[in-house]
This record gives sequence, C-alpha cells and structure tokens, in this order.
Amino acid sequence: MLEIDNLKIEFLSHGRRVAPVDGVSFSLGRDETVGLLGESGCGKSVTALSILRLFPMASQARLSGAIRFDGRDLLQAEDEALRGIRGKEIAMIFQEPMTSLNPLHRIGEQLAEMLRIHTGLARQEIDARVLAMLERVGLARAAQLVDEYPHSLSGGMRQRVMIAMALLCKPKLLICDEPTTALDVTIQAQILDLMRDLKREQQTSILLITHDLGVVAEMCERVVVMYAGQVVEQSSVEDLFDRPAHPYT
Ligand SMILES: Nc1ncnc2c1ncn2[C@@H]1O[C@H](COP(=O)(O)OP(=O)(O)OP(=O)(O)O)[C@@H](O)[C@H]1O
Ligand SMILES: [Mg+2]
Repeated sequence: MLEIDNLKIEFLSHGRRVAPVDGVSFSLGRDETVGLLGESGCGKSVTALSILRLFPMASQARLSGAIRFDGRDLLQAEDEALRGIRGKEIAMIFQEPMTSLNPLHRIGEQLAEMLRIHTGLARQEIDARVLAMLERVGLARAAQLVDEYPHSLSGGMRQRVMIAMALLCKPKLLICDEPTTALDVTIQAQILDLMRDLKREQQTSILLITHDLGVVAEMCERVVVMYAGQVVEQSSVEDLFDRPAHPYT
C-alpha cells in the first residue's frame, strides 16, 4: 500500500542545507498497522509530513527518493492530484491539533467541508455523518459542538475533533502522529478502539508514530525504529520486545 524508498528530506536553514532524514526506507501493507518509533528529533514527524508533502512553503523542503502509494509515486504527483488524495485516501492526525483546525471556522463547517470536497453527498447526509462521527470519537453534546469555534474547546476535545475529521472520509491510509498523547487514558482507550474498528471495517492501513510502547504492543503488527534520520531496526512487535537489535531500541 505504501512504500517509502530511500527518502531524503532537506531544509534550507540559515542559508545552509540540513537533512534531518537521509535514506529512510520502509513499507506498509494493506490492513497493516506499523509503529514508527524513535527519540525526539530523529525525523518521525517530517517523514510523515513528506508523504502528503505538508511542509510550510517557507521551509523550502526538498524531497528525494520515492513514496509509492498504491504503486504511484506521490513525490512526483501534481499538486492537483495530491489534493484529491489528502484527506480522502490518506488522512493524517497531527501531533498538534491546531495545525489542522482553522481557528476562523466553526467545527461543524470544517468537518462538513471535508465531505463536500471529497464526496457527492447531500447536505443533510453530510450533517448526519458529521454528528455521528463526533459522537463516535466520544464527544458529548455533538449537536452544540458543531456551532463552536476551535478556541472554545479543550486540547483533548480538539484532538478528538481532528481525529473525527481524519476518519470522516474513510481513508485507505491513516497516518497518526502521537494521536492520543494529549488525552486521558479513558479517552485514549476509546480512540484506539475506534482506530481498530476502522481497520477491521474497511481494511485501513495505519502508520502510528508514538513514544508509548504500550500502545505499540496493543496496536501494531510491525515496528520501524528511527535514529538520527535513519531506520536502524525493523521487526515484528514480538521480536522488538523479545530481542531488540539496536542499542537505542
Ligand atoms: N521546517 C523545518 N525546517 C528545518 N528543520 C526542520 C523543519 N521541521 C523539522 N526540522 C528538523 O527536523 C528534525 C526532525 O524533526 P521531527 O519533528 O521530524 O522529529 P520527531 O522525530 O517527530 O520528534 P518528536 O518525537 O519530538 O516529535 C529536527 O531536528 C527538526 O528541528
Ligand atoms: Mg514529532
């Protein structure tokens, strides 16, 4: 489903080229959950962002290698084609919820917009799906919530709105960057259950970035360990816990 082949990411920083990711390769099968682990700053988030090319313009990111999704190289895809894939075929849950919520629009509008762009559904059906998904991620009073703005929600609520937005179009691939770190354990368990259901119902593949080894043990079949911009270990979850190979692991 996803094949990252010798990915290199370079940024222009103070007139100098820096490459926080250099030669990363790993793949993810259909219906598979793969954990991406590694110490802070090793390049997990930038690797995830490069799949959908979601870098700020100012960072002047230069990407090389290949990222094949269903056989097609996303690094070579036109912007237009990528817009059709973002949110619909590949959805992302970010480490920081405000990166994907627009502070100027009501919660309900933002979620409805996703379905308007990517489906031909009628207004009523869209509204019904938005409400159902907000309830599914454990947000009470969804009917009032749709009229509120992101700033009036707590961090945990915003995180769940973002998760609802990511799941709304039933993506083939879900990329989660520390999806539950900001949530209390009850809600965290609820969200992980929801992700597991989604995977069962529609064979969604999941790339899960986390520092939480409990979550890895519970959710993932395979694990990719990064260290200083490179992959240093890839194994099944069982082998990772029984026989870690790299010192960092
Ligand atoms: N836009 C950018 N311009 C320049 N350097 C960047 C940019 N974005 C990220 N970096 C650098 O890339 C490196 C990898 O960062 P990244 O956010 O991918 O780490 P991470 O593995 O996700 O860490 P954490 O576990 O703390 O989230 C860091 O050294 C970071 O400073
Ligand atoms: Mg990160």
